[in-house]
Formats: sequence, structure tokens, C-alpha cells
Amino acid sequence: MKIKMRALRLRDVYQTYCMLRDLSKEARRHFRALPTKGLRNSIKTLISLALMSTGLDRCIPLLPYTLYGLVALEEEKIVGLAYLLVPKSKSKAHNATLGIVVSEGYRGKGIGTLLTRAIKVYARALGSSKISLEVDSDNEIAIKLYLKQGFKIEGILKCEERVNDKLIDVYRMGLLLQY
Ligand SMILES: CC(C)(COP(=O)(O)OP(=O)(O)OC[C@H]1O[C@@H](n2cnc3c(N)ncnc32)[C@H](O)[C@@H]1OP(=O)(O)O)[C@@H](O)C(=O)NCCC(=O)NCCS
Repeated sequence: MKIKMRALRLRDVYQTYCMLRDLSKEARRHFRALPTKGLRNSIKTLISLALMSTGLDRCIPLLPYTLYGLVALEEEKIVGLAYLLVPKSKSKAHNATLGIVVSEGYRGKGIGTLLTRAIKVYARALGSSKISLEVDSDNEIAIKLYLKQGFKIEGILKCEERVNDKLIDVYRMGLLLQY
């Protein structure tokens, strides 16, 4: 399988939306960091993401952050998405937040690893000195991926999420980028 990666473009929005729409309930629960209230707002968020990723963020000047999206493609099919959310405030701008998701049926083939590696390069190019994320403590695959990519667990948010009437912890993870 040959995987290509590039910045998210406007013409990718519908396909990316479909990928997110078709995620299992479990995957959707884990991938909740995109700034959207549920999937209905995904299109709006993805349009912002695509505009910002292609340098057109002046169209949306009011948001307190900038988003950068990368897609993984097999042939022309979008099979993964990673994004960085970079705060505009001076005190936080060095610290980008990462979100990542791979399409159902394409997991376990190294795409998540490729996207994480690519997003690290992207973050360096943006001048970030840290990448942060939050991951559910029961998301073993994602935790394994992040640890392998050099992220460290920086803290545990106890009983942060309610899942099927059970309270679960969330790990705060971070990667300091070396220059
Ligand atoms: C987390 C996620 C992005 C990983 O993507 P992926 O393409 O499956 O990741 P990779 O194929 O690069 O695998 C990463 C590691 O997890 C392991 N892994 C992947 N799928 C696995 C599975 N079903 N069971 C056990 N291990 C698995 C791989 O073996 C690999 O470890 P290795 O390098 O030691 O072999 C993907 O599972 C996903 O989209 N999950 C739903 C959304 C989500 O949880 N996002 C993260 C929110 S913080």
C-alpha cells in the first residue's frame, strides 16, 4: 500500500467529512479534540481547517487559534487525518495540540505512525517547540503510538470522561521538539 501525505485542501473536505462520519462510535469517542460540537459541525470545521492549511486563514481572523491539517491518501482516497491546533496567544503559541485519526479498515498498517511523524516535521516548520495532546487511558493503540513517537505522559486527568456510566482517566501527553 502506497501512502501519500499532503496538506488538507478545500476539495478534500467532503471526503474527509465522510471518513469522520463513518467512524465507529468508539473511534469517534476517542477522536473528539477537533473544535466542533459533534459531526454536524465537522464540515464547517473542516472548511476552516482546509482554508488555514492552505494559508487562507485571513478569511477567518476571529478564531483564537490556527489549524493545520494533513491528510494521508491511498491513491486519491483519504484514509487518515492529522491536525495541529496552534493558539494565537503569545504565551501559548509555541505549544501545538495534535489530533489524529485513521479511517476504519486502514488501521494497523502504519498510517497513524506516518501521520505522527509528518506532523512532527510540520510542527517544527511552524516553529512549535512542543506538541501536546489528550488521550483516553483506555485508548491503548493511540497511547502505544504516541509513546513510540517520543511523547511522554505528563499528567493524568482523573475521572475526566464518562463512558457508559464509567468514569475514565485521560492522559495528558507531550513531546518537546528538539532543534
Ligand atoms: C490511534 C490511531 C490513529 C492509530 O492509527 P494506525 O494507523 O492504526 O496506527 P499504526 O498502524 O501506525 O500503529 C501504531 C501502533 O499501534 C499498533 N496497533 C495498531 N492497530 C492495532 C490493533 N488493532 N491492535 C493492537 N495494536 C495495534 C501497531 O502495531 C503499532 O505498533 P507497532 O509500531 O509496535 O507495530 C487509530 O487507531 C485511530 O484512528 N483510532 C481512532 C481515533 C483515535 O483514537 N485517535 C487518537 C485520539 S488521541
